Amino acid sequence: MQRREFIRRAMSAPLLGAPLVGAPLLGAAGAALAQPQSMSPRRVPDVVYVPTPQEVVETMLRLAKVTRDDVVYDLGCGDGRIVVTAAQRFGARGVGIDIDPDRIKEAQANARAAGVAGRVKFTNGDLFETDFREATVVTLYLLPSLNLKLRPKLLAELKPGTRLLSHDFDMGDWAPDQRVDVGSRTVFFWRIPEKKA
Ligand SMILES: C[S@@+](CC[C@H](N)C(=O)[O-])C[C@H]1O[C@@H](n2cnc3c(N)ncnc32)[C@H](O)[C@@H]1O
Repeated sequence: MQRREFIRRAMSAPLLGAPLVGAPLLGAAGAALAQPQSMSPRRVPDVVYVPTPQEVVETMLRLAKVTRDDVVYDLGCGDGRIVVTAAQRFGARGVGIDIDPDRIKEAQANARAAGVAGRVKFTNGDLFETDFREATVVTLYLLPSLNLKLRPKLLAELKPGTRLLSHDFDMGDWAPDQRVDVGSRTVFFWRIPEKKA
């Protein structure tokens, strides 16, 4: 998918955490009361929040053949849907990282609502500074440039055999082991190769 199409999806995504419609009429104090408590990310996110459709989430997890023995990491987890689905539908443990504290609060609430809070963990942090070596499955929905920036860290730190999935964006000249289309979306699948001596 082209960056332009991703931006179009971002613009048409629901404005989560947006002020209530009537808030401006209430004045500053009233608006503060009317809006949900919101915290700023520690720095500007590298990519805006656009959720992966549930059908694509399930395709990603099925392609990876996730089981209860897996630890699924979603780097830039948004509302936590990939990690929550991995725990709820596939019995896995999961970890989600997001730079935006509001997304983390939302993900934790979603995990509680799904009854999987004991199997998942959501952490507010920068995915480029995260230790994800325990992962057996890693999922991404970032941007082509971010995939390329992350690629050396993924290859250096993930165990050989770890399954890596990316919604819509490839890894440049690292050819995927599999590629599946879901309507207008694409899921790319790689296995981390053995380390070179
Ligand atoms: C396109 S959304 C994908 C959300 C989720 N993975 C999904 O597929 O539904 C990208 C997410 O990455 C987060 N993000 C952006 N830059 C980040 C960074 N450097 N570290 C951690 N999270 C980041 C954003 O806040 C956003 O929630």
